[in-house]
Amino acid sequence: MLSERIQGEFNVHINHELYSSYLYLAMAAWCESKGLRGFSHWMRAQSQEESQHVMRFFDFVLDRGGDVELRSIAAPPSAWETPLHLFEAAHSHEIEVSQRINALVDTVLSERDHAANVFLNWFVNEQVEEEATFADVVARLKLVGDDGRGILLIDQELASRAAAAAADASSA
Ligand code: FEO
Repeated sequence: MLSERIQGEFNVHINHELYSSYLYLAMAAWCESKGLRGFSHWMRAQSQEESQHVMRFFDFVLDRGGDVELRSIAAPPSAWETPLHLFEAAHSHEIEVSQRINALVDTVLSERDHAANVFLNWFVNEQVEEEATFADVVARLKLVGDDGRGILLIDQELASRAAAAAADASSA
């Protein structure tokens, strides 16, 4: 059985993962409107991955006899100045998610909920990967700067993300 405190904080986090999915969907729309289909494809896959994160928390709360309380999802921004600004915003968002996961770990440890701690360990590792992935794209966008050909090359690379998304889905 989940404690009231953990149930409450996990429900807040479900909302935040839903917001992540919503944010990356908004980013996918902006990228596509700029002709960057590879960036859009990548962000669509990321949005789906965030939905999988939602469901991990959703199922865990229910499996532990808790109640899922779905709340309103905040509207994400709809425009960014450049692909670099967009990816920097996404990277900052992931850093914030990591901080939220760390705070959840602090909570479950203080409540001595070992099952919840084991559950969260997957997210601790996932966030290391997420931050690194976003940081890598930010670094490459900084390298190419305003060079349109460089941005289109990165666009082509990001278009190949499907396999990674499928692999994550199979391990979820
Ligand atoms: Fe669900 Fe990208 O953190």
